[in-house]
Amino acid sequence: MIEYEKKGFFNIHTLLNKDSANISNSDNNHVYSQLISGNCSSPMFSYLLNMNKQNLNDYKSIMFYNESNLASLINEAREMEELIDGSTVFLSKANKKIKMHFSKTLELRHSTRSFVFENMDFSIFSNIMHFSFGISSRKLNFNDVQSTTRHYSSGGGLYPIDIYIYVNNVSGISKGIYKYQPYSNSLYPLNIDNVDAKSFFIGDNIDTQNMNFCVFFEYSINRNYLKYGELSLLNTFVELGGMSHNFDLVCHSMHYTTCPIAGFNKSSVEKFLFLDGVNDHIVFTNICGKE
Ligand SMILES: Cc1cc2nc3c(=O)[nH]c(=O)nc-3n(C[C@H](O)[C@H](O)[C@H](O)COP(=O)(O)O)c2cc1C
Repeated sequence: MIEYEKKGFFNIHTLLNKDSANISNSDNNHVYSQLISGNCSSPMFSYLLNMNKQNLNDYKSIMFYNESNLASLINEAREMEELIDGSTVFLSKANKKIKMHFSKTLELRHSTRSFVFENMDFSIFSNIMHFSFGISSRKLNFNDVQSTTRHYSSGGGLYPIDIYIYVNNVSGISKGIYKYQPYSNSLYPLNIDNVDAKSFFIGDNIDTQNMNFCVFFEYSINRNYLKYGELSLLNTFVELGGMSHNFDLVCHSMHYTTCPIAGFNKSSVEKFLFLDGVNDHIVFTNICGKE
């Protein structure tokens, strides 16, 4: 049987008025042409039109950060943000080699939304975290301040994105929510009860029951806004793409599969992570399991 309502939603030319007040924006072509003509506003469109526009203050702040070596000084102190106590879960030292050829990894990469229920080895999980989001052995020296680097690039070396993990099925780690601590290569448990993984994503096509774990990418505006101003969002999203793709490739190189997911329940995830949703935002997710 044809579901006429769905058909209406899926055809951009069909008029479907669920909201009786919506009498002019009748189809998506109309919405789009009004937007392009400048008759209505879209935050996305205006961001795009103004991208790279710098105010005098933005230049001042970029210069200030560069001249004062501030990123290196912040970087030097970041380690102190990490919580080390009896409940910290230290991951195993990464096995230095990823054995799969890079070209094979690129060929293999694809998105998977359903998985088989299979326990992930603690050392494989540790390797994935280290090579995706961890601190690399390469050090940089700026005016006698030593900076650590990671396995992905970062605008101004400010690393504004932190990683939260929901562990579902990894040996040696209890089910639950953790914050990844890159300097100590550890997980810190948030001890949040009654987390329902089914509520993470929109719709029901993501197999949260059988996944091994999923990743929440958290952006804190204050980590880069003071330097880059309005340019911060672009930098952050580019960095986010690098991190998520790095994760995809590392997981596939270890015979696991992933799916980057924009369709997540932003406010409910932020709520159970105790994020304010003002300075700290969940901006993306990714999921890992065995196909
Ligand atoms: C930015 C971004 C957002 C995505 N969001 C979703 C999503 O919300 N739900 C989903 O099932 N897949 C999502 N995907 C996965 C894409 O559907 C998938 O990458 C695309 O169909 C190409 O398939 P492949 O990854 O297997 O090559 C997303 C991918 C990217 C890069």
